[in-house]
Amino acid sequence: MASKIIAHNVNKIYATVRGPVTAIDSFSLEVEEGEFVCIVGPSGCGKSTFLRILAGLEPLSSGRVTIIPGDDPAKPLNNVVFQEYAIFPWKTLVDNVAFGLQMRGVSKATRIEIALDWLERVGLRRFAHYYPAQISGGMKQRVSIARALANDPEVLLMDEPLGALDAQTRNVLQEELLRIWEENRKTVVYITHSIDEAVLLGDRVVLMTAHPGTHKATFPVGLPRPRTLKTTSTAAYNDLTYAIWESLQGEVMRAMKAQR
Ligand SMILES: Nc1ncnc2c1ncn2[C@@H]1O[C@H](COP(=O)(O)OP(=O)(O)OP(=O)(O)O)[C@@H](O)[C@H]1O
Ligand SMILES: [Mg+2]
Repeated sequence: MASKIIAHNVNKIYATVRGPVTAIDSFSLEVEEGEFVCIVGPSGCGKSTFLRILAGLEPLSSGRVTIIPGDDPAKPLNNVVFQEYAIFPWKTLVDNVAFGLQMRGVSKATRIEIALDWLERVGLRRFAHYYPAQISGGMKQRVSIARALANDPEVLLMDEPLGALDAQTRNVLQEELLRIWEENRKTVVYITHSIDEAVLLGDRVVLMTAHPGTHKATFPVGLPRPRTLKTTSTAAYNDLTYAIWESLQGEVMRAMKAQR
């Protein structure tokens, strides 16, 4: 398998009024084409910073990040889905999903067709002409995911995309994500606080240490696919989530102590 993302010795130092803050300390990650990698780490360890660096939204202080382009130069390198539903309130759902395609100059008829297709796949086809204020948080997050995927980026970067949702809605969207990912097997870097979610979704779970974030451990997830919520009731799933928790708990304690 070919590498799709290479992040090598990434360092990030923020300049603040109280002096420099090292957010990420020599963190490296390689992601293969078609791989779904989940990053888990205690609050403040630099997960969002790292994702923003991957997305090119934040400069790194030293190190190197490369997303290997594919054959189609028109394809965007990445798209990000954030925890807050970053959709335009003044656009209908279909226009929100079509937005990236519009920016790339895709004709109106084609972009509407693609956007409606993605709304169908996330179960929102009949709400296509609603505005974001008229739908629930879970539905808004579906729109964000559909918009990112409609753009067909080389890699999909997700920062706690389901973090703001209630547990049941999150479960429904986890299954939807699994189903959609099975269909297109996009390269995904997915940040989550939840070990349960990381093991359910990912091919590999990468743990970061408490602030300043660096690599703590990597756990391959060998659970068979396709996965559903039923996967979470298997012994293999439970053993792995517990092993990851054992590795992470010291870091969580360290992060909590630092916050006191
Ligand atoms: N713009 C900024 N300026 C200064 N410091 C920052 C900035 N953004 C983040 N930080 C600091 O960098 C560290 C990492 O922050 P980051 O948001 O990446 O963590 P995180 O792992 O995503 O946390 P959470 O799990 O709470 O979302 C924290 O100590 C944070 O205070
Ligand atoms: Mg974050």
